[in-house]
Amino acid sequence: MSHRALREMLSEYSVIIVTGGSSGIGKAFIEHAWRLNPEVVICNLSRRTPDIFTGKLNARQVTVDLVDPAALGRAAEEVLAHLRGAATKGKVMLVNNSGFGGYGRVDELDRAHQLEMIDVNVRAVVDLTARLLPALRERGGAVVNIASTAAFQPTAHLATYGATKAFFLHWSLALREELRGSGVHALAVCPGPTATEFFKRAGLKQGAVSNRWGQTVNQVVTESFTALARERAQVVCGWGNWVLASFASRLPKPWAARVGAALLVKFRASRVAAATEAAGGGVGARPSS
Ligand SMILES: NC(=O)c1ccc[n+]([C@@H]2O[C@H](COP(=O)([O-])OP(=O)(O)OC[C@H]3O[C@@H](n4cnc5c(N)ncnc54)[C@H](OP(=O)(O)O)[C@@H]3O)[C@@H](O)[C@H]2O)c1
Repeated sequence: MSHRALREMLSEYSVIIVTGGSSGIGKAFIEHAWRLNPEVVICNLSRRTPDIFTGKLNARQVTVDLVDPAALGRAAEEVLAHLRGAATKGKVMLVNNSGFGGYGRVDELDRAHQLEMIDVNVRAVVDLTARLLPALRERGGAVVNIASTAAFQPTAHLATYGATKAFFLHWSLALREELRGSGVHALAVCPGPTATEFFKRAGLKQGAVSNRWGQTVNQVVTESFTALARERAQVVCGWGNWVLASFASRLPKPWAARVGAALLVKFRASRVAAATEAAGGGVGARPSS
């Protein structure tokens, strides 16, 4: 799709709300959105402020730890106030992007860490979207949900993470049907391995996965905006990922689990001794700054 067509699509939006815009895919969403529509107001929810917000008048930071339901409630109110204060016309886009994984066996990974993963990857998504949807329905727009190719099969050694993404994909597709005819479009984005802070935070060396099959954040965002412009229900980013996801989703689930486990176990050797390495990195999702 041409750059011009994407610019036209983005010009209809006056506000974009992003979760997790402080790094990786979320940050790239903000950068691309501003490149396509410099006027659009970006409202970011995360614990760290994106460094690209410095000096931007149309940037709103809502600092929040999405693990905390009360803090999420206050953040949603702040977003709604920004929406009322910002341009009152124009579509609104919500990009549910915040998320993290954790590599290891269920009984080996920190229990609290896995529960926080469910909080951020699942509970916060449902909570925030339900709170903001009435405003989106009023003005029209889109809900862009950053799921994963991990959603297409059980993922041993990333069991909790993969299951959160399977939930997210099904939830997004169901939401799309509920929103049919409402002027709000839901899109599920399924990136495969992408070069971001994700791998370090999940307890894997980045090069273990992303160098061979990986995409860049720019590729993921371009494919996402193109799919949104085409009003697609879901997009699997990258041709190779699409082939693997199509294969995995056609296999009986127990077989898919076995194949997935065999592939992921290969990366066990690359696991970062996260608890002892880099303060703030490793298996914890806590930010380093
Ligand atoms: N990279 C990949 O290979 C890949 C593949 C498929 C899907 N994904 C998905 O893509 C999304 C973005 O990940 P990424 O690859 O860009 O990784 P990333 O660079 O680590 O970014 C993750 C973002 O999530 C935010 N976040 C994490 N915990 C949070 C919390 N408790 N409260 C608020 N925000 C929180 C972080 O913000 P703060 O730390 O500032 O709070 C950060 O901006 C995730 O949902 C991930 O599952 C990634």
